[in-house]
Formats: sequence, C-alpha cells, structure tokens
Amino acid sequence: MSTAHHASPNPSVLQVGPLKPSLAQTLADSYSAYVLPDAPAERAEFLSSHADEITAVVTSGRTGVDAELMAALPKLGAVVNFGVGYDTTDVDAAAARGIGVSNTPDVLTDCVADTAVGLMIDTLRQFSAADRYVRAGQWPVAGNYPLTRQVSNTRVGIIGLGRIGGAIAKRLSAFGCTISYHNRRPVEGSPYEYVTSPVELASGVDVLIVAAAGGSGTRQLVGREVLDALGADGYLINIARGSVVDEDALVAALSAGRLAGAGLDVFTDEPNVPEALFAMDNVVLLPHVGSGTVQTRAAMEQLTLRNLDEFLESGRLVTPVPMPAPASS
Ligand code: 8YV
Repeated sequence: MSTAHHASPNPSVLQVGPLKPSLAQTLADSYSAYVLPDAPAERAEFLSSHADEITAVVTSGRTGVDAELMAALPKLGAVVNFGVGYDTTDVDAAAARGIGVSNTPDVLTDCVADTAVGLMIDTLRQFSAADRYVRAGQWPVAGNYPLTRQVSNTRVGIIGLGRIGGAIAKRLSAFGCTISYHNRRPVEGSPYEYVTSPVELASGVDVLIVAAAGGSGTRQLVGREVLDALGADGYLINIARGSVVDEDALVAALSAGRLAGAGLDVFTDEPNVPEALFAMDNVVLLPHVGSGTVQTRAAMEQLTLRNLDEFLESGRLVTPVPMPAPASS
C-alpha cells in the first residue's frame, strides 16, 4: 500500500454498507474514509455536505451501489466491491456514468468450491442431521441412523461453469462423478458435457449445483420446471445467489417431497431463511459462509485494497468486472 492520498485533507473514499471489521478499520485509519449513514435523514444530510468529495466507494455484495446513489455522487469513479459477486451494484448505471467496478475473483474460488462439495456431502449423507441425532441422545434410544444417499459416482449438473463452477467440477471429478453443465455459452475446451437448458440439465442428473452469477440474467433460472425435472430423487445445491432459485418453488417442492433434498448457502432475503426448511433433515442450511475462512477473507481484503490503491493512484482497477457497452444515444 502507498501513498500521498492517505494524507489527503479531503477524504474521497466512502464505505457503503458493513464490511469486514479489519477492512473498515483500515479504510478509516489509512484513507480517512467516510461511512455512508443508513438512516434516510442522516444519509441525506451526509450527501448534501460530502457527496462531491467522493471518488471511490468500497462496498460488498451484501450492499452494493444502486443507480440512485451513483447519481448522488458526481465525482464517483470506482465502486470497489469486496466479494466476487456484484449483483447489488448497478453495472449498467455505472457503465453509463463511466464508473469502474471491481470485484475479488480467484482468491475465493477454492473456498467456495470446497463449500459446495461439503454442502453436497452433508446434504446427501445428512451429516449435520446425524450429528443432531447423536447430540439429542437418539442413538442409544432409536438405534442406527437411517441410510442416506451415496455421493461418489453421482451425476452432477452445474449451472454456471465459471471459475467456481469449474473448481467444483474438478473436485467432484475426483469423486467419480459425471459432470455436465449449463452456461450461456459452451466453455471452450471443457471436458464436461454442455447442456443447452437448465431443465434439460436437471432432468439428466442426481445433483444440480448452482454456481452462476446473480443478477437480472439469472433471476429464478431454477424454478418449478427445473425442480420438477430434477425430481423426487434429485438434490439442489446453491452456493451462488438466492436470486438464481425460485425459493417459494423450492420450499414447495421440498415440503411436498418432490425433491430429495437441498443444501443452501444463499437465500433470497438474507439473513432470513424460510422457517419451513428448519425441521427438514434432508436440507442443510448455511449462513452464507462460502468464502468465510480466515485465509480467503484476508486475501479478499488485500485484493479490495489493491483495487482501491490502484484506482486512487492511476484511475485504473486491478480486477475490473466486465462492463456492458453503454446504450448508444
Ligand atoms: C462474500 C460472496 O461473503 O464473494 C461473494 O460474492 O458472496 C461472499 O464471498 C460477500 O460478498 C460479502 O458480502
């Protein structure tokens, strides 16, 4: 890290939404960053006195920057996002205003892929439920735990064969799983079978893993039809974004026994999880911990600060996200 801007008397960095405490501390200490107030009245007051100082925002996938906030920050040049997913930031509005957006790819791929595999194993083998069984003193009373579903050699379909989807595929190949996938486009050179629609993919696999980016392009890609194609012996694993799955349809399918189980790290309205799922032992619920290790979060923090530093020094970003072409006028 460097340089002159740290000593600048005019802070130009704004924190939007909660961040990892050490990152928030660094932003406050080394960048004299402001924190955008949550409450509407305080926010309006803050913006009326400081909006034209802000050149960079640091945020996370949890909060992001919408078109309205971008419009309120006339000098904003970059949205630096902690996390690989940036669906809460309006990239169309950013592109239209010439605002760059960065994320933290690659550094979290291994941990999120590990989470997907762990969640799949837990869901099919019901380890969390079996652990609850032991803790509740059920083993001596009720005897052996019911038999569960084998993980190795299953047919796995992956929606979104990007960096994370690819890392999941690699891991599950070592389990003898047959991998197929659906993407907007086939991945060149991929050894896995490409399937043209989510429904077709779901109909040919035992486990469907969602690893696609969130946002308008994937909203409720996994709905009733896909879940029905997966069927009563099929499992859904989601480590991507809750928005990719129709959660009401998922709860309905699980409640009716039209799906064998689900492993979910992400939800439509985090941190709220449909209570109907709480009592289901064939469902594993995680509080969005996919990238949540000390090592990976530290790497994400570093990459976030590298992007911020680079932007403040050169106006460029280290890991910019692809921007849509601005609409022609
Ligand atoms: C983060 C994530 O926990 O990177 C992402 O897209 O979902 C997680 O790694 C999250 O973005 C932090 O808010």
